[in-house]
Amino acid sequence: MELELLTTTRAFRRRLDLTRPVARQELLDCLDIAVHAPSGTNRQPWRFLVIEDPATKNEVAEYYRKGFAAYLSARTPRPDQLRDLASGQYLADHLHEVPALVLVCAPGRPPASPLQLASFYGSIYPMVWNLLLALHSRGLGSTLTTAHLAHEREVAELLGIPFDDISQVALLPVAHLKPASGPPSGPRTPAAELTRWDRWDNA
Ligand SMILES: Cc1cc2nc3c(=O)[nH]c(=O)nc-3n(C[C@H](O)[C@H](O)[C@H](O)COP(=O)(O)O)c2cc1C
Repeated sequence: MELELLTTTRAFRRRLDLTRPVARQELLDCLDIAVHAPSGTNRQPWRFLVIEDPATKNEVAEYYRKGFAAYLSARTPRPDQLRDLASGQYLADHLHEVPALVLVCAPGRPPASPLQLASFYGSIYPMVWNLLLALHSRGLGSTLTTAHLAHEREVAELLGIPFDDISQVALLPVAHLKPASGPPSGPRTPAAELTRWDRWDNA
């Protein structure tokens, strides 16, 4: 396994090539790899809606921008988060130009209990990460986004998704990647600083 792929698959935003179309078969090939991810009792609860139509992308992007703006206004970012948020703003400004928006959905509504909630999202996000890896391995890229979910109901109506039966989980803007200019890996705290052994209250 190419471990380098794991440490270099970033939130690709400014590197997305907004001018080059993404072939449907290429996307389907990546989705076919992604769906090898685990899910609770192998339910495979993922469903995909790929949005390519420019007018529809425009409307979804409007909701995304509203959600992203609300997210920004509700928080005071740490200085080390400013770069990521600026890049997030770039994506919000250009979302409608990204060739394919992959909306990842799941049957049902998010449950209330922690156990069921873990199973609900935990049966989707490994597949999403697989997809990000598969895309990157083929010179494509994306970013896991959720900002539009602030307007999930409106987007469901726009796209003909039955809101009571199908949850939207993430929106992945997919494009070919332009050459890298920044660092290949994102900033991360070393695991040793975050790990305790045997007991939580051990020094
Ligand atoms: C659950 C989740 C939701 C996210 N939502 C958004 C989003 O709405 N918009 C966005 O631009 N990035 C979003 N991100 C991307 C993160 O900002 C990004 O993965 C993180 O900053 C690390 O980026 P890096 O790997 O390039 O360092 C989300 C990531 C996760 C895991």
